[in-house]
Amino acid sequence: MRGMFEAPAITAADKPALYRELASQVQGLLHGERNLIANAANFSALVFNTLPDISWCGFYFAEGDGLVVGPFQGKPACVRIARGRGVCGAAALSRQTQLVPDVAAFPDHIYCDGAAQSEVVVPLVRADGSLLGVWDVDSHRLARFDEDDAHGMEMLCTAFMKALG
Ligand code: SME
Repeated sequence: MRGMFEAPAITAADKPALYRELASQVQGLLHGERNLIANAANFSALVFNTLPDISWCGFYFAEGDGLVVGPFQGKPACVRIARGRGVCGAAALSRQTQLVPDVAAFPDHIYCDGAAQSEVVVPLVRADGSLLGVWDVDSHRLARFDEDDAHGMEMLCTAFMKALG
């Protein structure tokens, strides 16, 4: 029997379809709840447990000039990231999704986990234009993420931001 918050298995034909299905699961999971921590925690758990080859996924929230870690799944991570530093800081500053197939080739990548190989980071911008933070997903596999993943993660983040109202 499936638990109350256990998502049904996804049987998608391709990556865009997989992310569309996952986005609808996000909507269902977060429906009716606006608490940031609760939603961020469940969102991280859903993504971590659904997508293959993810070593870490979670939130960094804007605080002052920098970012501070929020709910995540995976090993303990760097707590604070200074303004503009690392892939997360680049996403926060540019407000553009950062797709990094090989973190060793990203000049300012911050290693929270020495085994990290590839990464995608999506900026989270509120309706009023202010920055909530970023959504960061890491893998131990080189080039784990492609454009379909970047767009898919953006779709998931849109569903996440919508749920917050
Ligand atoms: N690699 C990130 C730092 C966060 S950890 O990977 C969880 C970066 O370069 O911004």
